[in-house]
Parts: sequence; structure tokens; C-alpha cells
Amino acid sequence: MAAFLPTMRVAAILLAAGQGRRFSAQTASPVAKQYLTLGGRPVIRHAADALIPHVQILQPVGERASLDEALSGLRAPSGCTIAPCVPGGETRQDSVRAGLEALDRLPEGEKPDLVLIHDGARPYVPAEVTRAVIDALSAHGGAIPGVPVADTIKRVRDGVITDTVPRTDLYRAQTPQGFRFGLLRDLHRGAAASDATDDAALLETAGHHVAMVAGSEDNIKLTYKEDLVRLERLIGPTLLPRT
Ligand code: CTP
Ligand code: MG
Repeated sequence: MAAFLPTMRVAAILLAAGQGRRFSAQTASPVAKQYLTLGGRPVIRHAADALIPHVQILQPVGERASLDEALSGLRAPSGCTIAPCVPGGETRQDSVRAGLEALDRLPEGEKPDLVLIHDGARPYVPAEVTRAVIDALSAHGGAIPGVPVADTIKRVRDGVITDTVPRTDLYRAQTPQGFRFGLLRDLHRGAAASDATDDAALLETAGHHVAMVAGSEDNIKLTYKEDLVRLERLIGPTLLPRT
């Protein structure tokens, strides 16, 4: 295993093509959530800073002008390239596919062996989480971080509980999610791609093993206003106009 990972080229697709509709509906934010300034830097910039020490290629996906501005101060360490950003698509999966196809257009020899898919709205990913995902790819086609579900889960129909779902085996999935690059690219090109809820599901359906590694309760995705409150405690204050 020790000989396996150092020879692997790792790329990260940084997703920033979403509209942040749930967040905007709750706040008066004039900018999409991934571009909000938190602790002096845009959310997406924090995500890029967290990923870049682990990868050889960073591939941002989203609207070019906003991404170029948000990532303008980012300096890649030697041996790492920040690829020109590519536009995303209608759905998250369309945006992932756009990133995969951009990486596949790289010359032979520069294409990655492994690819991480990361939510640009997830700014506080601990280094050990990203490391664990990459390490697990020495033995698996895919690996995702997650945290055990702590709450009791109830299934409800028409306002009435029908049953209690045993939570022992349940995890909340996070990103970055890691995959063998060629495997994920080929599955995305296949017919099942449009039905999958996430990239791990594409592998699961095709019968590939996807490992679950330890995520972090701090690896918060900015989805609702309350997530911003938790992220402010970890990172610093936001410039969001208060409502
Ligand atoms: N994303 C993307 N392309 C899309 C949709 C989402 O690149 N068509 C990205 C978002 O920018 C975000 C990540 O995928 O970084 C996770 O998605 P989510 O949290 O759902 O963000 P939004 O889709 O922007 O938010 P909402 O669903 O509330 O509109
Ligand atoms: Mg969404």
C-alpha cells in the first residue's frame, strides 16, 4: 500500500455551480452561499485551501468570473496545477460530469488516477478526512467520509409514525468522495448516471465496493442559515447582511 499511493495522480473537482436556493430562501444574501465571505475568505476558497495540499490538479466547476475572483489569491504548491474552471450543469451530477470530462481532456500522462469530488459549500474539511479517503482508494474503487447518525430515525406517513428505523448502520455522507478516475468517468457516461443520487450510488449500483471512512462533525455543508452559525464559530464571522 505504501508503494501504491505516492505514484497516483490525484485530482479534485471543486463544485461551485449551484444556486444555493435553500440558503437564499432563508437569508437576504446577495451572493450564492459558496461565495459568502467567512473569516475573511470566500467559502469556496476555504474548501480549495483544504484540498490543495492533497492533490496534483484542482478542477473548479462553476461560473468563471465568480470563481476566478474567489480563488484569485490561491497559490498552488509546486507539483499542483489549478485548472481553468469549466461551467457546471443543471444538476450536481451534471456538474460532476463536466469536471470529469474536463480532466479527461488532459493529455495522456497528465490525467489523474484518482479523483475527489468536493462540495464547494463545505469549507472546513479536516486534512485527516481527505487523507483517509485517498488512502482507502488503495483497496477500493470508491471511498466516502461519513458520520454515524446519532438521532433516532422515524418513518412517517400522513403525519403518523409507521416505524423506527434502526440507526446502527446509518451514516450521513459527506465529501470529499474519492474514486478511481477511469471507473467514475465510465459510469458517468453510462445509462444509469442520470438516476444516481450521488457518485457513490453509481458505484454501488454497478456492484463496486465503496468504503466508508471517518468523517467529521465539523465538515459542515453550508445548506441553511443555522449551518452558517456553526461555521462562523469554526472559521470566523461572515459578511452576510443580517435579516
Ligand atoms: N452544485 C453544482 N452544480 C449544481 C448543483 C450543485 O456544482 N447544478 C454544487 C453546489 O455549488 C454545492 C454542492 O454542489 O457546492 C452541493 O450542493 P448543494 O448543497 O445542494 O448546493 P446548491 O444546489 O447550490 O443548493 P440548493 O440545493 O439549496 O439550491
Ligand atoms: Mg442542491
